[in-house]
Amino acid sequence: TIPLLTSLTSCRQWRQQVRDDRISVGFVATMGALHAGHLSLVRHSKKANDRTVISIFVNPAQFAPHEDLSTYPRTIEQDLRMLEEIGGVDAVFLPGMKDMYPSGIVQDPERQRGTFVEVKGYGSEMEGRSRPLFFRGVATVVTKLFNAVEPTRAYFGQKDIQQALLLRRMCSDLLFSHPEPQNLHIVPTERDGTDNLALSSRNAYLGPEERKVANTLYRALSLAKEGWESGLSKSGCIASARDLVEGIRAETGVEMRLDYIELNDSDSFEVVGDEKTEVDYGTRPVLLSGALWVGRTRLIDNLILGDP
Ligand code: PAJ
Repeated sequence: TIPLLTSLTSCRQWRQQVRDDRISVGFVATMGALHAGHLSLVRHSKKANDRTVISIFVNPAQFAPHEDLSTYPRTIEQDLRMLEEIGGVDAVFLPGMKDMYPSGIVQDPERQRGTFVEVKGYGSEMEGRSRPLFFRGVATVVTKLFNAVEPTRAYFGQKDIQQALLLRRMCSDLLFSHPEPQNLHIVPTERDGTDNLALSSRNAYLGPEERKVANTLYRALSLAKEGWESGLSKSGCIASARDLVEGIRAETGVEMRLDYIELNDSDSFEVVGDEKTEVDYGTRPVLLSGALWVGRTRLIDNLILGDP
């Protein structure tokens, strides 16, 4: 059975036993409700490291007061079984609330006190427009997890591309050595084998009719990608994606609303211009990302354009 580290103290004790720099420690941070996407990160870590640690902690600081903190799926027994099935990991870090927030944490941002990590600018673009304090919550908790686990390498999913790139920048800006920024690895998005829906713990919220159309965002992004690659303007690509969503909504009657679909520079996260230019496409990848409400569930996905 897998060793469970249920406190900061036990995590630090575990880490103390692998102090030797020749022993590499890979780390996967999660909020649980594990699926094949999480397991893919674990497999990447196990392949490249002597030891692998996964954390499971539902982080209140990244949920706005109106969001789904209280209903977020918690399936710890099943999570541990899934980890056993892929041959286990060296430790599962399950910190308590007091371990992660020794000064406490309240949901109302106006009343919060204590230390937070903010990646200025980068956290307010893209997903940050709809969720203004989300990346502050993520950067804060991941800093704490990195300080507890002191990983040699860390693995994040492309599914949450802005999160992964922002955390890499944080490691660079704050001179992290565990992990060093270049040792923060981004693993491709794991999708449903039949309809390409990006796997997500939040897919569990979808009703059967909603699930049938949940891949609409992926289809919209794919259509926009095709348009972009065949020379259509950015607004043309986005309009065709919007039309597709609207068509499927009208046809099926499932309540769906596109929150946004946008093209952003993968380094600055700035919105790219309307016309395709050499600068946009030639120098570095462009992120094509979006968020779609399906009923009361908000789904996100992205494709990378011009990835070498
Ligand atoms: P969570 O949503 O549980 O995701 C944990 C990790 O799994 C993230 O790096 C995420 O990008 C990755 N992941 C999720 N779905 C994936 C998929 N379909 N394919 C590949 N990777 C996938 O992201 C978080 O938790 C939190 O914000 C966290 C980083 C743990 C901080 O609280």
